[in-house]
Amino acid sequence: MIIVTGATGTLNGATVDHLLARIPPDQIGVSVRDPSRATHLADRGVRVRQGSYDDPRALRESFADAEQILLVSSSDLAADVVAQHRGAIDAAVAAGAQRILYTSTHGTAFDTPYPPLAIHAATEQHLAASGVAWTSLRNGFYGDPAQLLGAWQETGVIAMPADGPFSWVDRRDAAEAAAAILTADDPFDGPIDLTLPEPVTLADFAASASEIAGRQIDRVVVDDETWVAEAISSGVPEAVAHFTLSMFQATRSGYFSHSDPTLMRLLGRSPRSITDQLTDPDVR
Ligand SMILES: NC(=O)c1ccc[n+]([C@@H]2O[C@H](COP(=O)([O-])OP(=O)(O)OC[C@H]3O[C@@H](n4cnc5c(N)ncnc54)[C@H](OP(=O)(O)O)[C@@H]3O)[C@@H](O)[C@H]2O)c1
Repeated sequence: MIIVTGATGTLNGATVDHLLARIPPDQIGVSVRDPSRATHLADRGVRVRQGSYDDPRALRESFADAEQILLVSSSDLAADVVAQHRGAIDAAVAAGAQRILYTSTHGTAFDTPYPPLAIHAATEQHLAASGVAWTSLRNGFYGDPAQLLGAWQETGVIAMPADGPFSWVDRRDAAEAAAAILTADDPFDGPIDLTLPEPVTLADFAASASEIAGRQIDRVVVDDETWVAEAISSGVPEAVAHFTLSMFQATRSGYFSHSDPTLMRLLGRSPRSITDQLTDPDVR
């Protein structure tokens, strides 16, 4: 049986949908914090059990009978997420899983300005020490392009701090790839980069946006201090502004410049490009 955590979230919810298209529902289980939000899965024959990274015993029970367990990276910003991930890995080992998979991020490293990368690195370190086979799905960045680019349709500019190359994938592609890995005949071991075939920059987004809009959308580089001050004055919490800046700083340092064809191979097609994503109203 394959058990998926975070199945009431966006990424792993989509992964379960892709699993249902590939294997019978009685081979799939989910471990979710609130089972009342997973009745759509129970109705389709998926085993739904309550589990939380904050409750090791419930987690172990929700992992029973698992051959593979897909752990979502925690979205609980108030928690010690590395401790949560370590606890979840330990529960998966105790439950007898033969392989543990984890949703990580491309560019994972300890020594970086962008805090999530060190969280993923510490989690991967614990996976490697677990004694169980493991796979880390190092997804490119994803999310609502408006949060990355600002209101370019209204302003005609993408005014952000200086950036460097990074990958921006469609979350639905990342989910499809995860399902392909979970159901593959041959296992994928260790960290796997799931990125666009070539990295992009905000200048590429501006070129793409210009093509879509049929008018010039300029990439304007704003210096770091000015950008943070403007973000705060427009209502962005100070910590969030600095966190976002740290992502741009990490792109400049080349942490995300590596690209890999694995995502394309797993999908059997090109991943959705940034133009695809900018034109698709369903992208989140
Ligand atoms: N690569 C990227 O660019 C990128 C972007 C955004 C996020 N992420 C990371 O990738 C993860 C998955 O992304 P997503 O888009 O699916 O985010 P999401 O929709 O916010 O889903 C996060 C999932 O994590 C679950 N969760 C949080 N804390 C938990 C805990 N203590 N115990 C068990 N489950 C817990 C949530 O459970 P509930 O459903 O009960 O709330 C939810 O299902 C995020 O959590 C975040 O770490 C990566």
